[in-house]
Amino acid sequence: MRILLDCDTGIDDAFALTYLACLPEAELVGIVSTAGNVIQDQVLRNNLGLATMLGLQMPVARGSDVPLVQELMTAEDTHGPTGLGEVVLPDPDRDPDPRSGAQLWADLARAHPGELTGLLVGPATNLALALEIEPELPHLLSSLHIMGGAVNYRGNTGATSEWNVAVDPEAMARVLCAFADADPLPVLAGLDATEAVRFTQRELDAVAALPPHPVRDVLTRALEFYFAFHESDGFGWSAHVHDPLVAAHAVTGRFLHTQPLPVDVELAGTLTRGQTVADVLGRWDRPATVRSARSADADAFVEHLFTTLRTGLAQLPVSP
Ligand code: RIB
Ligand code: CA
Repeated sequence: MRILLDCDTGIDDAFALTYLACLPEAELVGIVSTAGNVIQDQVLRNNLGLATMLGLQMPVARGSDVPLVQELMTAEDTHGPTGLGEVVLPDPDRDPDPRSGAQLWADLARAHPGELTGLLVGPATNLALALEIEPELPHLLSSLHIMGGAVNYRGNTGATSEWNVAVDPEAMARVLCAFADADPLPVLAGLDATEAVRFTQRELDAVAALPPHPVRDVLTRALEFYFAFHESDGFGWSAHVHDPLVAAHAVTGRFLHTQPLPVDVELAGTLTRGQTVADVLGRWDRPATVRSARSADADAFVEHLFTTLRTGLAQLPVSP
């Protein structure tokens, strides 16, 4: 299975990337860096650094510095000054790919027609820009899996908006519109599903007890920062770890329960801009645009994640 990962790394993005690196059946063929949790320079640095540490060889591309329309907002309070808490990664072993993130989406989709799984766990800026380069993208990908939104559930950024949508609402609206006639429809996993996964001290201990690997130590220290943020935000010494759940669903087809729904992004609301609005009762008289994931088998996923990390990290090469 070939996967393109588009991410704003980010603590839970780092778990998703490590999880994919640990899976023999998943071939990561490209990483697109999207500004979000931290600025583009830092996301790119994190992706290059993690790829180096994990011994991954695929191209890592720089994405747009800013969202399509609004100013960039970042989340150093949640993900730390480096996006990995306070962890500074060693220098990477390579430069970024010379192509833009949008160009990499288009090139890889054209190179592997019908065989590339798109996995978007950050804002949709670069995927929206890629649609301008290659409008056939929805029909070239084998499937698209998105961590984003919240359906009939509170937001984690605005009162009703989720981070990946709130950073670039116009981009997510364009992506959902363009993929509305894709077959299969994209999976849209919102907070209502991903917040079923909550790491506590038990999972923090399990990360620290993974086979010795420099990335294990990065994940442990980053997760401690993530816990401290969630504690300061009233969620206790724990953290919602969204992105690897969607990665695991993309690879295995398990852990998320989906239903076809028409979903659109509110762009004009004075209180609700960035909300993903789902027409559950069919009032719009429009066909479904996504496979909306609104619940998850959290325990089974966590077990699968740690089994994969344990096996994979024991076998991965150890670079600096
Ligand atoms: O709302 C959750 C998403 O935004 C995740 O992709 C996470 O990385 C975050 O900051
Ligand atoms: Ca993310």
